[in-house]
Amino acid sequence: MPFINERLEANRESIAKNRAASGPVRASRFRFEPEAVMARLRENIVGQDDALVALESMLVRVKADIGEESRPLAVHLFLGPTGVGKTETVRLIAEAIHGNRDGLCRIDMNTLAQEHYAAALTGAPPGYVGSKEGHSLFDLDKVQGSFSKPGIVLFDEIEKASKEVTRTLLNVLDTGRLVFPSGNREIDFRNTLIFMTSNAGALDAEAHQHRFRKGWRRWLGLSPGSGDAIRDTALRRHFDPEFLNRIDQILTFNSLTDNWLEALLDIELAGLNKRLSRKHAQLTLSPALRSELCRGYDARYGAREMLRAFRQRLEPAVARALLAYPECSRFSAELKDGGVVVGQYVE
Ligand SMILES: Nc1ncnc2c1ncn2[C@@H]1O[C@H](COP(=O)(O)OP(=O)(O)OP(=O)(O)O)[C@@H](O)[C@H]1O
Ligand SMILES: [Mg+2]
Repeated sequence: MPFINERLEANRESIAKNRAASGPVRASRFRFEPEAVMARLRENIVGQDDALVALESMLVRVKADIGEESRPLAVHLFLGPTGVGKTETVRLIAEAIHGNRDGLCRIDMNTLAQEHYAAALTGAPPGYVGSKEGHSLFDLDKVQGSFSKPGIVLFDEIEKASKEVTRTLLNVLDTGRLVFPSGNREIDFRNTLIFMTSNAGALDAEAHQHRFRKGWRRWLGLSPGSGDAIRDTALRRHFDPEFLNRIDQILTFNSLTDNWLEALLDIELAGLNKRLSRKHAQLTLSPALRSELCRGYDARYGAREMLRAFRQRLEPAVARALLAYPECSRFSAELKDGGVVVGQYVE
């Protein structure tokens, strides 16, 4: 049946042509790759695997662009003690998506703690100074992003926000819009990834762990009980249910135990070496210096303490060596008499 075969062939060709003309069947408007963002996070954030897995699903969902149109693209709350990577995670996402660690709009809720500062979010109400300009803390470009890239907003220390500010925020989470009191301006959050961070509950969870370690339950071989239950109680103390209801995912960041110190040190060293490579130099650390830099780490203060030691003790010595040996490209840092000494690397 040559005739039918010809028809079938012609049909197939025309379908293929139509497909080619209309482009790939399902292309996302977003030009970021969830895998690339995740690779960046996994390289630079340690000890928070569960949170990262949850973020990966969020990125995939955003890329597929199937969310409700009248809401922000995603709303996440990061809980956890100080210095464990909450803010750093958002900065890394911004870097991976926008090529810039500062490609996000950060609002420090601590500075908005007083009621009347709610106006700083939305511009002053009509009749107040500044109401004409509609001045607000939001950086519009960073909030709204672009057609191919989501905007990113970070509300830091959300538990410090006043009721008034929380109410404003509730509206944003609900409708994806923030209408200025003057009524003639609005900020659109429908193309935005919203992240919020809070220490709420971190202290309670820590205290619970501590009590357990000292208490009789441990001696009887009982488990410490669900940290989630404690977290939820603390959350309910700080936030209204209607606020919590509008959050897509609440992620807990763990406190960083000593096991992660070496990895943190390596991340910091890799960062320094990247900067040094612009000066055609590389640095290695002696094992004794490595353990010295990790010493005195206190989990209660998170990674910051160690990073401070790195910056205050190591970097000045490196700077001096760079200037003293302009020809040298490989340096090593050692511990000598309790101090850091940087010299030319010898095999
Ligand atoms: N889990 C981690 N992995 C890698 N680096 C980390 C991690 N936690 C913290 N750091 C490092 O410590 C610094 C402080 O962390 P970050 O700003 O994320 O703290 P935070 O959790 O937001 O704390 P806070 O609640 O005090 O704001 C970061 O710049 C980062 O370099
Ligand atoms: Mg932070």
